[in-house]
Amino acid sequence: MKRRQFLIQSSLAAMTAIAYHQLPSQSTPIYKQYKSYKSWKSNNSFLQGINAPVFEEVEINNLKISGQIPEELQGMYVRNGPNPMFKPSSYNYPLEGDGMLHSINLNRGKVSYKNRWIQTRGLTYEMFEGQELVELKFKNYANTNIIGYGEQLLALYEIGLPYQINKNLETIGEWNFKGQLEQSMTAHPKIDPKTNELHFYRYSFFNSPYLHYYIADENGKIIRETPINIPKPVMFHDMVLTENYAIFFDCPLVFNLEQAKANNEPFIWQPEEGTTIILVDRHDSNKKPIYLQTEAFWVWHFMNGFEENGQIVIDFVHYPKINMESHWQAILSNKSNLERIKIDVKSHQIVSEVLDDHYIDFPTINNKKIGQPYGFGYAPYIDTELLSNKKIPNYFPSLIQYDVVNKTNKIHQFKSGCYGGEATFIPSSQGQSELDGYVVTFVYNENTNTSDFVIIDPRNFESEPIAKVHLPVRVPSGFHGNWIANV
Ligand SMILES: [Fe+2]
Repeated sequence: MKRRQFLIQSSLAAMTAIAYHQLPSQSTPIYKQYKSYKSWKSNNSFLQGINAPVFEEVEINNLKISGQIPEELQGMYVRNGPNPMFKPSSYNYPLEGDGMLHSINLNRGKVSYKNRWIQTRGLTYEMFEGQELVELKFKNYANTNIIGYGEQLLALYEIGLPYQINKNLETIGEWNFKGQLEQSMTAHPKIDPKTNELHFYRYSFFNSPYLHYYIADENGKIIRETPINIPKPVMFHDMVLTENYAIFFDCPLVFNLEQAKANNEPFIWQPEEGTTIILVDRHDSNKKPIYLQTEAFWVWHFMNGFEENGQIVIDFVHYPKINMESHWQAILSNKSNLERIKIDVKSHQIVSEVLDDHYIDFPTINNKKIGQPYGFGYAPYIDTELLSNKKIPNYFPSLIQYDVVNKTNKIHQFKSGCYGGEATFIPSSQGQSELDGYVVTFVYNENTNTSDFVIIDPRNFESEPIAKVHLPVRVPSGFHGNWIANV
């Protein structure tokens, strides 16, 4: 406690130290800015190979490009992910790791790359001490997603407030909707493309009601808060938005304080509890939520949801069960697939259907189709044979483009030794069709230990990328990214 008081009292000194670190050092001809931190290695499979953190913050201009970057692409692709600065005494993937942002800026023919740690309060304390502070375990890492909201960027973690980031990737501080949000916010809000409203939620482990649903307008004003009763504290990682409903899947991954204290694994899978689908009326806060019981399954991410012919249709990555242990064999045992659930709006009858058998996650779509009937989704493929050989997760050898209407798919296979991540769809500014745009991702090349930023034509998905930006550095595996137009 004495040290904590000292830390708080010394915050000014800490900020001075950080400001000193942020001064650009004398650069090499390539690096406009370069900051290096003390490196370390770990035998945790989530901190090895493609997952190993990087220890430099760089800004690199005049990058080598193959192919032709479309002229209309003006803006910034930015992706978040865990990148612990100090060697952790234990590491619980995907819940831990200081957030690091990686961005590609496309500006009138100029292309640059930049990466920056998110300067969270917890990381600030640790930088002052020069080491991990074990008592800050499960701090707000801000490491999961990064979205554009109004004129700002928000770096998101699901158990903590968003961190406000400027377009130079500098951390401004925690963002609480001008005092309207006291606690946490999901890392997977949904922006309704018709209204620009931000739909989100927070969940609590300790205080009932454990779930709260919010709507904020495009100016940052929270216009609705609805508590939702659920029987036990569980993890909600994502939500669904349709024309009339906000939908939550109460899966039985239950928070357990004793286990969290004992071994830093705070969740227990309790399939006997089943999964409950909760339909919340988007437009009438007086209507009570509808609770629909199903057999137990787990979902990290939804692809999309919409309403059609009196049915709610939800496409998502379905896991029959989830093993949250932090080793590669757990990923091997967590086989998922793309599944569709249809809920009859009147009878509430639920019918499920397997859309595809590939083991995937991180599904994305053209965000102009959020909440609406749509045709196409994208996801990286998890190759279990490759995982068994490497014994390190997150090597995705291909991307899949799903045609969810015709129930077919196309594969974009990366070259040997090259691995992608979540795909972001950038809509074409003049585009009318859902396929008018570009699919982008970072691709790690283990032969050169560097990464590319690739741009794929969604109409020729199996073909070579139309452009590649070659980075002289490695971008580690990460979580979620987005395109910020006209930065
Ligand atoms: Fe996620």
